[in-house]
Amino acid sequence: MDVLRQSATGADDRAADARADDPETFRLAVLRQVQELTADNQRLLQSVVRSEKRFRTLAKSVWHVQEEERRRLARDLHDGIGQTLTALANQLQRIYDDARGAGNLGLEHRLADALDITRGALHDTRELSRLLRPTLLDDLGLDAALAWLARTLSERAGLHISFHSELDEQRLHPDVETLLFRITQEALTNVIRHSDGRSARVLIKHTPMLLILRVEDDGHGFDTAQVAHAERNASSSGLRGMRDRAELFGGRVEIRSAPGQGTVVQLTLTLDGPDTDATTTL
Ligand SMILES: Nc1ncnc2c1ncn2[C@@H]1O[C@H](COP(=O)(O)OP(=O)(O)OP(=O)(O)O)[C@@H](O)[C@H]1O
Ligand SMILES: [Mg+2]
Repeated sequence: MDVLRQSATGADDRAADARADDPETFRLAVLRQVQELTADNQRLLQSVVRSEKRFRTLAKSVWHVQEEERRRLARDLHDGIGQTLTALANQLQRIYDDARGAGNLGLEHRLADALDITRGALHDTRELSRLLRPTLLDDLGLDAALAWLARTLSERAGLHISFHSELDEQRLHPDVETLLFRITQEALTNVIRHSDGRSARVLIKHTPMLLILRVEDDGHGFDTAQVAHAERNASSSGLRGMRDRAELFGGRVEIRSAPGQGTVVQLTLTLDGPDTDATTTL
């Protein structure tokens, strides 16, 4: 702004001097002043655009580090505790078989219980590992990962979740796949935690230029204005996180809800637009 003020003041002085001479000189001085202001504006705009780009790159790097950390934790859980629990379950199974062979009914029942608990812990560990970062997402892509997510959350929460995708298992840029997976994960977690609904629907629409992800539920909905106010006070972060991540890719998240009317969370992403690098490698 100082640059602007300085050049404007300099040009003002010149214009005032010129006014004392003749109208043509005055016109030229004003013209020069306008040109200088335009150039200053352009420089400021370029600097804002450069800062914005730097910010996006930085924010994406933080996001990558976060996802990489989740990937590492998921692997550690699976290969560490997961393998130990598998070995424990196998060992218990052998002792259970021995107890059964020896006709020791009391021990047999206790071992059966211990085996159930161990298998339950193994199931939870594997599920947690996949929720942290499903290998399906990297290996088979978004459709497979979202179908698995819908199935898993459905079984866990007793909610009917349907999934329809126009992608036909087509692969997208890995970052876009991760973005869609995380937004769906947060939206469905919200449905389970807050909506009290009986069913939810996940829908992916895909055209060459546009990707739309919609997660809707038939729950009791909420007052979006009130939640927006809470977001400003930083008391909740899920919905804001969705919006922030989408914006990094030039996308937009809209939330439509009202008390008694269910909720729709919709992400719109332009795949080839000038403002998105959703299709480029980072
Ligand atoms: N599908 C939904 N149905 C009903 N209410 C919802 C739904 N999604 C969000 N909300 C409301 O919006 C609020 C904000 O959601 P948000 O995901 O930002 O935060 P949160 O789920 O409370 O906490 P977290 O930061 O762990 O996500 C919720 O507390 C809830 O009141
Ligand atoms: Mg949430």
